[in-house]
Amino acid sequence: MADQLKILTICGSLRKNSYNAAVVRALPALAPPELAFVPAPSYGGFPLYNDDVRVASGAPADVEAWAAAIRSADGVIIVSPEFNWSMPGPLKNAIDWVSKLKDVPFKDKPVALQSASTGQVGGARMQYHLRMALQSIDAQLFGRPEVFVNFAAKKIDEKTGELTDDAAKDIIKLQLAAFAKFVARVKV
Ligand SMILES: Cc1cc2nc3c(=O)[nH]c(=O)nc-3n(C[C@H](O)[C@H](O)[C@H](O)COP(=O)(O)O)c2cc1C
Repeated sequence: MADQLKILTICGSLRKNSYNAAVVRALPALAPPELAFVPAPSYGGFPLYNDDVRVASGAPADVEAWAAAIRSADGVIIVSPEFNWSMPGPLKNAIDWVSKLKDVPFKDKPVALQSASTGQVGGARMQYHLRMALQSIDAQLFGRPEVFVNFAAKKIDEKTGELTDDAAKDIIKLQLAAFAKFVARVKV
């Protein structure tokens, strides 16, 4: 499709059987046809951020590759669990790395957030913190509808890794349709 918008997906969990990765896999079937999804390269091997390392040797190649993937997308969707009421450390570490690059990849980038967590609030506190971190580097954050897949273990089939909950699928559909319009409106 000629006018497709390229949407980079970033999963906030590094776990093999991640519920959040299951939500990422569900997105294409729930999206309007103008969205084309591309998974981000892994940030799991980034070293812990240390400004001395950056100043001495610059950003590692895998950080540059992650940043380039974000820059080349029309929009980004981050699907992440909540760890201790906030975002997982590896995801924050990745954001910290790219925030120090000359051409900050999240600047002016349309970004939508989703979360799946086994807890009752479905990652709401993580989304609040992630939203603030991304706002600090001038991302264009999508507002509502918000997507929180709570009690994720009951909504994702353990054997197939498939999102099975109709209410979760419905709200994801609504968000993706609204995000497509948002990306078309604000992308630079
Ligand atoms: C270190 C750690 C902290 C966690 N803290 C929270 C939390 O604050 N809120 C919550 O809803 N779930 C919390 N959980 C449970 C996660 O929601 C659950 O492990 C989930 O499966 C992680 O997502 P994933 O399946 O995509 O890896 C925590 C899990 C871990 C490992």
